[in-house]
Amino acid sequence: MKLTFIGTGYVGLVTGACMAELGHTVICADIDAKKINGLKRGVMPIYELGLDELVEKNVKKGRLSFTTNIGKAIKEAEVVFSAVGTPEDKKTGKANLEYVYAVAEAFAKNLNGYKILVNKSTVPVGTADQCRAKIITTCKPGALFDVVSNPEFLREGAAIKDFLNPDRVVVGTATEQAREVMEKIYRPIARAGRPVIMTDIRSAELIKYASNAFLATKISFINEIANFCELIGANVKEVARGMGSDARIGSRFLYAGSGYGGSCFPKDVQALIETGKEYDFDFQIVQAVDEVNDAQKMRPYQILKRELKSLKGKRVAVWGLSFKPRTDDVREAPALYVIQALLKAGATVVAYDPVASEAFARSLDDKKVHYGTDAYEILEDADALVIMTEWDEFRTADYAIISKAMKGNLIVDGRNIFERSEAEEAGFHYFGIGV
Ligand code: UDX
Repeated sequence: MKLTFIGTGYVGLVTGACMAELGHTVICADIDAKKINGLKRGVMPIYELGLDELVEKNVKKGRLSFTTNIGKAIKEAEVVFSAVGTPEDKKTGKANLEYVYAVAEAFAKNLNGYKILVNKSTVPVGTADQCRAKIITTCKPGALFDVVSNPEFLREGAAIKDFLNPDRVVVGTATEQAREVMEKIYRPIARAGRPVIMTDIRSAELIKYASNAFLATKISFINEIANFCELIGANVKEVARGMGSDARIGSRFLYAGSGYGGSCFPKDVQALIETGKEYDFDFQIVQAVDEVNDAQKMRPYQILKRELKSLKGKRVAVWGLSFKPRTDDVREAPALYVIQALLKAGATVVAYDPVASEAFARSLDDKKVHYGTDAYEILEDADALVIMTEWDEFRTADYAIISKAMKGNLIVDGRNIFERSEAEEAGFHYFGIGV
């Protein structure tokens, strides 16, 4: 089928390339000419495992192309996927939908026969109806179209695998015609035995928020248990193992640490609370999840402050800046909060991340942090080491080299990747989260 993706961020680019891999003819369109020109030369605007090979392969096969001409890309498509950003409005906590509505308008202006507009971006419940209303006021009278909700559940760093082998695909439609087209698009996935769940539009929109809020709940829950473990001398890793073995609970998303970050959980949790308010509905659990996470992000800072007494003039080495490993995405990364607090308290911060330093420096916009190119090099003369992202290369770190390089012996392990007994044996003063 002929598909157009508008927006070549994480979601649009990965999904577009994967759809081409399924055999569809895909155009990825974006207003950002720099991005599109780069993509035409094979330069990826994001770091995602396997993406460059997938793009190269499908461009060569003639199934994937890039353009800035949004109107033409819409005209040529049978189905238009909207994958533009829905950034959180910092003042209101609501998702900013101006880009989503701009796509609906462009879709309406370029309708040349029955077409479907699919919302891939995470949008509040009711957005598909809003898009439909906007299209009706803009398009020619009697034009035929459908609006569909098809939320994404891709994890950064595993997005291609997640797309090609999903736990489920969720599609919300209002007409039989749209349902049939969407079933055809996802036929290769259904044929591979993965469930393609068809629902009404509003349920599909809510499934995305309910899923992310539930996963965020698991994380905040285990973090709260972790903080309690510290008080009573229990080990959260053991507690999570014991809990997770109950199939009704499940072991995934029960890793305690410095809280969740990224482009989805913080924003989606906030947006769900805000949507609730519009309906006079109080999301008590989700509100608590958000509050627990806000406090959890600062746990490593609090431990550093407690153990180093005064942070003024102290040299703190930070391992890991991205919100999770295998991505250069630093949006809402707990490291941002910890480093800002350290700088404010007068500490010197030296940081290392295998891929995210540049993105982090842009995001922090504070010239005081020194970014190293080697994990051990930044430890020179450090009073403390704090681990904020569980990159594999940190898991296998050599205690002897760390110890030799550092001036102090304090390790704050915000992701519980070291074993306390081993770290203590190597002479470190070790603090994890609930271990
Ligand atoms: C998430 C959802 O998993 C995905 O389905 C959705 O579509 C987009 O949001 P992503 O943000 O890429 O994906 O990352 P994920 O792997 O889910 O991790 C989110 C955050 O939670 C990270 O900061 C991670 O460190 C944290 N986390 C995750 C924990 O602290 N503990 C856990 O047990 C799991």
